[in-house]
Amino acid sequence: MTELQEVQITEEKPLLPGQTPEMAKEAELAARILLDRGQTHSVETPYGAVTFTVYGTPKPKRPAILTYHDVGLNYKSCFQPLFQSGDMQEIIQNFVRVHVDAPGMEEGAPVYPVGYQYPSLDQLADTIPCILQYLNFSTIIGVGVGAGAYILSRYALNHQDTVEGLVLINIDPNAKGWMDWAAHKLTGLTSSIPEMILGHLFSQEELSGNSELIQKYRNIITHAPNLENIELYWNSYNNRRDLNFERGGDITLKCPVMLVVGDQAPHEEAVVECNSKLDPTQTSFLKMADSGGQPQLTQPGKLTEAFKYFLQGMGYMASSCMTRLSRSRTASLTSAASIDGSRSRARTLSQSSESGTLPSGPPGHTMEVSC
Ligand code: BEZ
Repeated sequence: MTELQEVQITEEKPLLPGQTPEMAKEAELAARILLDRGQTHSVETPYGAVTFTVYGTPKPKRPAILTYHDVGLNYKSCFQPLFQSGDMQEIIQNFVRVHVDAPGMEEGAPVYPVGYQYPSLDQLADTIPCILQYLNFSTIIGVGVGAGAYILSRYALNHQDTVEGLVLINIDPNAKGWMDWAAHKLTGLTSSIPEMILGHLFSQEELSGNSELIQKYRNIITHAPNLENIELYWNSYNNRRDLNFERGGDITLKCPVMLVVGDQAPHEEAVVECNSKLDPTQTSFLKMADSGGQPQLTQPGKLTEAFKYFLQGMGYMASSCMTRLSRSRTASLTSAASIDGSRSRARTLSQSSESGTLPSGPPGHTMEVSC
């Protein structure tokens, strides 16, 4: 049988007076972002309706990129800066994207009645097959942050054949121990729910620095019309079970995984520990220097770069397709081909602000990355 080939047809448009090819390309990307507003759908699941927004069109033989956001956020406030960053366009045009909103977190969501039984994180993971079935998608590359990273990991443990790769930002795979609970309860005596969630999302340094970004997110969360729903998602996160990852054991992620954390992030230790439990031949660890709690908001360019190499390592983005991205970066970054190796290589990255290089590291070791 003849195979369907994906053919990219590029329309040659004349340049406007004074317009360089780069400017034309930027304008085209901006137009594409403006035109693709996403299609929002809602699907009934055993745990209530789940809303998700689809951008782009399905590409034959390619997984969908499926994102899951953290507590206090929705898909837009968590992922828009990353997915709308300039360099990301060249990557995502090759994939359909499905951005899930946890129940009650979608824009305009009504507040659940008092006593509403909000799903656990495990149950939220169990809603993902309903979404994929509705869209008729068979495999995904998951991108999750915090609670979303946990949900995607749980989904991958239960449905490993459908997950081709995972980008897990700020994952804490452990259930809260009694010490954590005591600390949580104590903090709860003096802090409001929005402040506790902000403390989960951002480092104390970032919060006290009170940058424009912090002011924006503090404002979003404090004045969220669905704050009661957010508290329910927060409670589910705090009541999560241990994922029980075990290096060399049966409970492990079998697909390529890129773990990401900021070096000053509240969950830095948890991600380091998670890295120690996963299969080193399948796991890359990107520790981002000078980065706080939400690298996808504060350093979308660096994350895009790492994502590009992650996809290349999985055999997606051929480097010839990455013309603009590759050209826009220094030659040192092309040495990141060291992380584009086969799926069987161990890849651990740690981002450095000094060196300006992205050298390879031996399996199981930390690699310095800078952009
Ligand atoms: C996307 O193109 O995937 C996207 C656009 C807007 C917000 C989030 C994601």
